[in-house]
Amino acid sequence: MADRKPLISGNWKMNLNHFEATATLDKLRYLLSKDDYEVVDVSVHPPFTDIRTVQTFLESEKVPIAVGAQNCHWEANGAYTGEIAPGMLFKLNVSYVIVGHSERRELFGEDDIVVAQKVKAVFENGMTPILCCGGTLEEREGEATRGKVTGQIHAGIEALTPEQVASMVLAYEPIWAIGTGRTASAEDAQQVCSWIRAKVKDMKGADAAKAVRIQYGGSVKAGNAAELLSQPDIDGALVGGAALDPEEFARIVQFRLS
Ligand code: PGA
Repeated sequence: MADRKPLISGNWKMNLNHFEATATLDKLRYLLSKDDYEVVDVSVHPPFTDIRTVQTFLESEKVPIAVGAQNCHWEANGAYTGEIAPGMLFKLNVSYVIVGHSERRELFGEDDIVVAQKVKAVFENGMTPILCCGGTLEEREGEATRGKVTGQIHAGIEALTPEQVASMVLAYEPIWAIGTGRTASAEDAQQVCSWIRAKVKDMKGADAAKAVRIQYGGSVKAGNAAELLSQPDIDGALVGGAALDPEEFARIVQFRLS
């Protein structure tokens, strides 16, 4: 895994109100210790309405879990009913913003152009994007995964400097594995993550490729985290369903112990 520190991110999606968020984090803070945070970076990505509560809780309890968001708009402000500006998230000490999750792409029509604008806006506002990519089952069976995934990465990082790419996070999430209980095999996930790293090297050079962290996402659980995370090009996990259960999520963070 070179010397890239793994990042385990809990994507809560549209789950847990701000009371439930506090209860979940209160359990998590007893399950994780200083030793865990030394070897693994951890972030949680609650719904927007929880972020202020989550920020206040983590800061007052001195829990070194980074606050993340699941999405944002790319403009600084304006007449965009229902949207949230990146600068608003930065003011809440948000560190990581998930961009281009397949649910945003498939259910809310986000295309590569919009995703690239968001990635840029997240950087301009002092935060780190987690840029997601991933193909469908048909694409996998038709062996079109490589083209789809590297195309999404191409569009998302094209306008960035090598230094920005080095500091960001990419997430490979096969659509057929999200929320289905079906995980890519560690070999398959490794293969695609190695293609992604090769693409970064092609576009932005060896230093950026060596430094960029690549997460795997799609039905990650305590039982499969260690195998996935021991692959040379997998530097973390983007966890959906299993992140809602603090015990399961803590065991994923502690994947080295299993
Ligand atoms: P899952 O979701 O772990 O529930 O499959 C992963 C994701 O969508 O980020």
